[in-house]
Amino acid sequence: EGVVVGVDIGGTKVLAGVVGADGTVSRAARRTTPGRRVVAGQVEDALVAAVLDAAGGSPLAGLGVAAAGFVDSRGERVMFAPHLPWQGEPLRDLLEARLGCPVRLDNDANCAARAEAHHGAAGGASSALMITMGTGIGGAVLVGGEVLRGANGMAGEFGHMQVVPDGQPCECGRRGCWEQYSSGNALVRNARALMAEQPSVLSDMSGGHPDRVTGPMVTAAAEEGDLVARRAFASVGDWLGVGAANLVAALDPEVVVIGGGVSAAGAKLLDPARAALRRTLVGAAHRSVPALVAARLGPEAGMVGAALLVARSQPRG
Ligand code: BGC
Ligand code: NA
Ligand code: ZN
Repeated sequence: EGVVVGVDIGGTKVLAGVVGADGTVSRAARRTTPGRRVVAGQVEDALVAAVLDAAGGSPLAGLGVAAAGFVDSRGERVMFAPHLPWQGEPLRDLLEARLGCPVRLDNDANCAARAEAHHGAAGGASSALMITMGTGIGGAVLVGGEVLRGANGMAGEFGHMQVVPDGQPCECGRRGCWEQYSSGNALVRNARALMAEQPSVLSDMSGGHPDRVTGPMVTAAAEEGDLVARRAFASVGDWLGVGAANLVAALDPEVVVIGGGVSAAGAKLLDPARAALRRTLVGAAHRSVPALVAARLGPEAGMVGAALLVARSQPRG
């Protein structure tokens, strides 16, 4: 007995929820991810706090963790995480010791892909790409409903493909990575730069401090028709489509599913992405261009997919 909890730990927030066998979420809780310069244990504290909050006093039957980082093929450690202070962190064992229940661990985008295959936009597709847009870009390749793992368990790190030689520095330590042009961070950076060029409601929203602009602020401003916010989305959406076209050229999937926090912006992001995919994809006139769709589980996909990692006892009956 007890509840199964899924937790998604990203560069900005921790989202935990009690997830039923059918993928529905009851009782969710969130925390802010402590900044990148903290020690590993502080991130674990935030994660544990969100999990216990979501469980609300019920015993834990199991915990699935969707982590924004490179997870080893055994699902034991986060080897490297551009947005978190984890290097070789033995997260699975640490959390099992702290919480006293079985813990399963995978990359956040892999989890989101599995959730969309079971309960969402990739259901029934023989092949699919998952692209999650949050603080960075996460990725997964689904073939026959299974996530491609690669030799190290690290396949699908789309966000760190170099798209601009000598471009923007990335939190991974390199330059010009795709996620520097198409992600929540990129959206905010674009908006801040454009605010210097033209008036925007973002000036009021941020109290005149461009460095206080956040992703959700840009989304809200775009909804009001603000031109700076719209241009920021157009650029991030265009880069999303360009990167997706490269991945489609390589992998020829049936469908491309876009998840993560930024995907909540819907058409503002997806329309320019679809246009860029069509424009950039090699041989587009001679093939079917895959549909580029929003994750059906939205920003909850990672959390739901994390819970799918946990084996459930069969219902009696
Ligand atoms: C990390 C990935 C993660 C993604 C989304 C990237 O920067 O390298 O492991 O899936 O961000 O959180
Ligand atoms: Na991945
Ligand atoms: Zn990078």
